[in-house]
Amino acid sequence: MSSMAPSRSKCVRQSLLTISACPRRHPISTDIDEMIVDPSRESAGMTDAVLTFADIRQTFPAPGDGAPTRVLDGIDFAVGRGEFVAVIGPSGCGKSTLLQMAAGLLAPTGGEVRHRGRRIAGVNRAVGFVPQQAKLFPWKTLAENVELPLLLRGIGPAERRDRVGAALRAVGLDGFEGHYPGQLSGGMQKRGSIARTLIYEPDVILMDEPFGALDAQTRMVMQDDLQALSRAAGATIVFITHDITEAVVLADRVVVLSQRPSRVLADVAIDLPRPRDVFEPFRNPGFDAAYDAVWSRFRTQIGLPSRGPRVREPAP
Ligand SMILES: Nc1ncnc2c1ncn2[C@@H]1O[C@H](COP(=O)(O)OP(=O)(O)O)[C@@H](O)[C@H]1O
Ligand SMILES: [Mg+2]
Repeated sequence: MSSMAPSRSKCVRQSLLTISACPRRHPISTDIDEMIVDPSRESAGMTDAVLTFADIRQTFPAPGDGAPTRVLDGIDFAVGRGEFVAVIGPSGCGKSTLLQMAAGLLAPTGGEVRHRGRRIAGVNRAVGFVPQQAKLFPWKTLAENVELPLLLRGIGPAERRDRVGAALRAVGLDGFEGHYPGQLSGGMQKRGSIARTLIYEPDVILMDEPFGALDAQTRMVMQDDLQALSRAAGATIVFITHDITEAVVLADRVVVLSQRPSRVLADVAIDLPRPRDVFEPFRNPGFDAAYDAVWSRFRTQIGLPSRGPRVREPAP
């Protein structure tokens, strides 16, 4: 990431920011209960849902004679056009499983995932998937990696070159076209992976803990860029994370899942003004209340004792 010059990155972000902004869906509130999205109200009003998880259940058979694992126990939520929805939940609760279903790589044992109202029944090529690891092919240059989805779709060389150029500019990587992944930092490889997803203009972008493996500083820069990119493109994003701060600072809504077999514990509207400061998240007006709204639900799932005054035991 050291070669990611902040001035250029900022420049790219500023030019992107001038394009468009997502409308705010809810008024700013500091009352935790007011932030909770009523699922019936939301789905009733959400005629433009791009992705719908309807009563999703999933049970995996265990190896040998073991009892099957019930992972998802009736998951219901919808993602509207241009919405950035973060999904947070304890490890092993089925977050990645949900994304696999949205990509059409796994059929749920109950319920259905719908993309623009149609049940997903096979590989869903309308979604873009950004995995936790960048997974660029080491023997291909950055440009060759990024153009791959267009090559597979039979798009000609001139259009490929234009679109690769635009995608790399959008993630602040122009000038690195001929570099191999091994010559790029972890953050730059991640940008390459995002460019490869953006290039075919997916209807929905699915991100599975995409910044989990990055160092703290790179992660903040990536969060800032993702915020700018998603606003500029009006992108619809489902973003899995285990980091509450990341979820609150980036998302329009945070869906909190329970432990396995998991259900939706809360669907929290995050109505902080944008653009948000990802570098000092606590300085965003309303951040503390939004964080509390998510944390107060999430903490019940990770085996912490109930909240009370923290009193130090007197020394014996
Ligand atoms: N293909 C599979 N076969 C059997 N069990 C699976 C399979 N995929 C996931 N699981 C199990 O489902 C649970 C949820 O997995 P996952 O969706 O990866 O959780 P998360 O992403 O929330 O950490 C885990 O217990 C995992 O072992
Ligand atoms: Mg996972």
